[in-house]
Amino acid sequence: MSHRRAFLGQLAAVAGAASVGRLVDADRLLGASMQRVSTTAAVDRSGARIGGGRDFRDFRDEYLLGPGVVYLNHASIGTVPKAVQKAHKTYLDICEENPWLYMWGGAWEEPREAVREKAAAFVGCEPEDLALIHNTTEGFNVLAAGLPLGPGDEVLFSTLNHPGASICWDHCAESRGFSVRRFEFPVLDVPSLSAADVVELHMREVGPRTRVLVFPHVDNFVGLRHPLRELASGAHERGVEFVAVDGAQTVGMLPIALASSEVDFYAASPHKWLQAPKGIGLLYVRRAMRDELRPLSVTWGQERWAGTARIYEDYGTRDLPGLLALGDAIDFQSAIGDQTKRESLSAMRRALQAGVEDTPGLVWRSPESWEMGASLAAVEVGGLESAAFFERARQEHGLVFRPFSTLGLNTARISPNLITSHEEVGVFLEAAGAAAWEG
Ligand SMILES: Cc1ncc(COP(=O)(O)O)c(C=O)c1O
Repeated sequence: MSHRRAFLGQLAAVAGAASVGRLVDADRLLGASMQRVSTTAAVDRSGARIGGGRDFRDFRDEYLLGPGVVYLNHASIGTVPKAVQKAHKTYLDICEENPWLYMWGGAWEEPREAVREKAAAFVGCEPEDLALIHNTTEGFNVLAAGLPLGPGDEVLFSTLNHPGASICWDHCAESRGFSVRRFEFPVLDVPSLSAADVVELHMREVGPRTRVLVFPHVDNFVGLRHPLRELASGAHERGVEFVAVDGAQTVGMLPIALASSEVDFYAASPHKWLQAPKGIGLLYVRRAMRDELRPLSVTWGQERWAGTARIYEDYGTRDLPGLLALGDAIDFQSAIGDQTKRESLSAMRRALQAGVEDTPGLVWRSPESWEMGASLAAVEVGGLESAAFFERARQEHGLVFRPFSTLGLNTARISPNLITSHEEVGVFLEAAGAAAWEG
């Protein structure tokens, strides 16, 4: 079979022959045509279903989750839709037909840039502002290593900041002489905090030496939403030069508009809520910051990326098949749409919250409202140690969630996605209620 015919076969397998269109023979254009290897057919089907009838059980058929798994841990790691997985596998197969052509021969340059454009539109910025990296942790390592900080400078964040966005600062502080200050966030007060309270709690900590403020858009312990624009502008007004936000829990769950947010940097992990292949991340670097931030990896030929965020993703040979599948994951999520997502996730959260309030021994430790919270909530289960409850719930009910016993919490973190049914939330409530009763 010729190269072109094999390619067409794969294309048809993924997208359906009707959407393939007419391809030009040249190798170079094979790359461009890869943009058309999309999950369109599957995405349209599942998008229509969830947007219209909202049959969650049916929607689960679009995924690979095992039948006995009650998966309430989308905040730790997402699960990829079958359609995106299929597109990813197709890219992997195509790449192996002529690895040089796709990696270094330029065939996938246009498709890579098409994914950047899609991702930029998804988070509300320009393609030039966005580096396609591995994950949030890498994004923060780029910042900690590359910002012009030295003796006398302070990096500030609360105890709600994730280790992946915290430890890198400690590491670089040692050798570069700047300091890192963590302030205690009143995590047990979270249910009653307003957006203004969250801003005030940060602003009163900013001091004359604070040059960097870091915060999570949504934290991973209790799911508190941090107001982007208010925190960023408040910090800038007080002389903070660099505002860096951890968006690991946000991209794919909540709509994001970076260009108008006033934040300087935003790192994210689309393998959680965007349900992209594991190990593909985003780093937004505001235009004015690109003169200040040095790249973490340096290699040949980087002059060609000067002035754009592409310089922060140039570490040599990379996983282009996974990167292209990010584009398919964005298509999939876009077909569902922000409004359906908000309605469905907030309804699920309300059901969980009501169940917790109605069950003796369970305590809600997250924001009261959807507007201050997210699809990620912390529940205290009687006096039971959260890790022990998790082990028991996993073995007895197939439940997967994240136990926490830090920051004064002793909680089960429940993070449902659209694929989750209300019955599955019920399985958790029943298991937690029984454990609290016995405990
Ligand atoms: C808020 C937050 N930040 C950062 C990370 C680290 O993500 P990654 O391992 O994708 O870098 C996580 C992972 O759970 C997280 O929840």
